[in-house]
Amino acid sequence: MKTVYSLEDLRTQIQCWRRESARIALVPTMGNLHAGHISLLERARALADRSVVSIFVNPIQFGKGEDYAKYPSTLDADMEKLGAAGLDLLFAPNLAELYPGGIEEDTRVTVPGLSAILCGQFRPGHFSGVATVVTKLFNNVQPDVALFGEKDYQQLLVIKRMAHDLLLPIEILGMPIVRESDGLAMSSRNAYLSPLERGRAPRIYAALQEAATKLSKGAQSIIAIETAAMADLAAAGFRPEYFSVRRPTDLSSPQLGDTSVQILVAAWLGSARLIDNLHVALDQPLAIL
Ligand code: PAF
Repeated sequence: MKTVYSLEDLRTQIQCWRRESARIALVPTMGNLHAGHISLLERARALADRSVVSIFVNPIQFGKGEDYAKYPSTLDADMEKLGAAGLDLLFAPNLAELYPGGIEEDTRVTVPGLSAILCGQFRPGHFSGVATVVTKLFNNVQPDVALFGEKDYQQLLVIKRMAHDLLLPIEILGMPIVRESDGLAMSSRNAYLSPLERGRAPRIYAALQEAATKLSKGAQSIIAIETAAMADLAAAGFRPEYFSVRRPTDLSSPQLGDTSVQILVAAWLGSARLIDNLHVALDQPLAIL
């Protein structure tokens, strides 16, 4: 595995691979890698001749008072995992490399609509920060395919829309959520949980599964299911931000006759903001809303 820190070295390597007509896959990350990230890399390696992982904790996608300053940095351990998983190139730039003019006046890429709902409502500017840094990475790595985890389902849709609207010739692939044995979705932020909170955390996935069962039975309205899940999570010690049943394609509200939905949740547990989601293929088309 080769590691580069500068755009210049990254571009030199990419040009060399392009001359060889190599197909390139990119997995953008913020480091602190877990099995979910490694599953993205494994798929990337299967899909392309050359794999690139980026590690960069992107300040502009964090709001004021969020965890940018304490976001776990584990570069040495990450490098070991990536090397063992057969990565070709790690790009680990510093702040000045990606934001040479600073972060305040920097140009932003914004995907309207989709960025303002759900997580976007609670984290204003977050998806614009994501879309901006991913654009910078896409422009320099010039991947044929880029892979993102479905745990950040809304992020995945934002990036797909951005690539579509900006006419980027890059295939955007979502990969299934990797879960701990008790159902908790793997996330770097799980490290913020105390042992007691870690014991409770799988409740968030259980809430999604319960809502999926209720939806499949078709006996309750969506609003009743969402309200009950919010109350259950609050009773279990979470501070839920939203629990919402949406259309999988664009996160709009489901309509009568829909045959699948995406249930999405964001909830605080102690100092950890957890998100999760579940795709539900319904046995019967939606008959009540
Ligand atoms: O999902 C993440 O880790 C980040 O949002 C991403 C896509 C690497 C952009 O900083």
